[in-house]
Amino acid sequence: MSAAHDDGHGRPPEGTTILGIETSCDETAASVVRWSSGIPRVLSNVVGSQHELHRRFGGVVPELASRAHLERIVPTVRAALADAGMRTSDVHAVAVGNRPGLIGSLLVGNAAAKAYAWSLGVPVIGIDHVAAHLAAGLLDADEPSWPALGLVVSGGHTHLFRMDGPLAMQLMGRTIDDAIGEAFDKAATVLGLGYPGGPRLDARSSEGNPSAVRFPMPRLTARSARRGPAPDPAVASHAHGAPDDASAHARTLDFSFSGMKTALLYAVRGVPVAPNRAPPPPPEPLTDRRVDDLCASFQAAAVAQVIDVLGRAHDALAAGGDAPRTLLVGGGVSANRHLRAEVARLADARGMSVRLPEMPYCLDNAAMIAGLAHWRFAAGEHDDLRMAPSARSTVGHA
Ligand code: KG4
Ligand code: ZN
Repeated sequence: MSAAHDDGHGRPPEGTTILGIETSCDETAASVVRWSSGIPRVLSNVVGSQHELHRRFGGVVPELASRAHLERIVPTVRAALADAGMRTSDVHAVAVGNRPGLIGSLLVGNAAAKAYAWSLGVPVIGIDHVAAHLAAGLLDADEPSWPALGLVVSGGHTHLFRMDGPLAMQLMGRTIDDAIGEAFDKAATVLGLGYPGGPRLDARSSEGNPSAVRFPMPRLTARSARRGPAPDPAVASHAHGAPDDASAHARTLDFSFSGMKTALLYAVRGVPVAPNRAPPPPPEPLTDRRVDDLCASFQAAAVAQVIDVLGRAHDALAAGGDAPRTLLVGGGVSANRHLRAEVARLADARGMSVRLPEMPYCLDNAAMIAGLAHWRFAAGEHDDLRMAPSARSTVGHA
């Protein structure tokens, strides 16, 4: 434990080694990340999925998840240390995802992290899971140029940030209803593909025709979109126009996926009969071919919406003389092949470098937690044993 806290440049000193723990939902994960040759290197990344436990319920059962975390956390940490060839005494800090998530699940990881930190006499560092998804694209790589657009696309979040560093985030837009991963999962359920749906929908899409069915593209305005906390006005002014008259009709950088979900439901089960109207035509039979087409069309529409918002966010920052130089994407849906291809294409067209996480770091993992913790540690920031987990993220909010 000889590494000092800060080299004066906001970068961790060589050799700083952080143990990360992640238990916010249904993955029990631990990882060791070491600052080496100026970059955060992942020495181990152990992720135990609980999908088998929750599959028959069609979704995560919080009580089952926290009990499973309790049984698995110590063996998972041991495996991460062993894979990295480390002993606990090699660790300079213990980082843990402490918000947002299922509170019972977060409590297990947080209690474990505090216990390890206390027994080793090292700091504990609480990490926001949403911010950590963006750090996933910074692992095993040089730091990108800032400012960046940071897009989190996961099962719980669809959040767009302006980023001036791994810890400097301002919210520009967010979903006003379902998260994109949640929409994929629900679409997969409607199509009978099972749980978890996103990857299955991705796989079936490759056989389907993305133009077979048209899904609506939302056109959210300040007036239509305001649900939940408003983004930081300083950033929102790019997105929402001046805070007067015209701004109510200006398009925002928010997302919405619930209209698409309803459209899919109608395409599968038929449009409901309206009073005094001719009965709508029955839905097309749900053949394998039709399922493939619906998957491909739904995925194409969801990704098109993301690309539309990203393009307008780039325009807005560029118009302010501060064009983003990097596009950083993270979260489970960043594993989606079509999304990866389209995001890379947009970045290329706009002269941004793109950072998409390597596949093992797209879904929930602890490497992203330990990775982001390196920047907090370098800044001399840490928490203490009174740190409490929270179900909500406030990252990037004013
Ligand atoms: O980041 P994550 O592991 O957990 C949350 O923080 O929510 O994201 C999980 C989400 C799920 O909704 C899952 O269906 C989706 O990511 N997902 C995908 C793909 N792989 C995972 N969605 C679309 N295509 C994929 N290949
Ligand atoms: Zn996640």
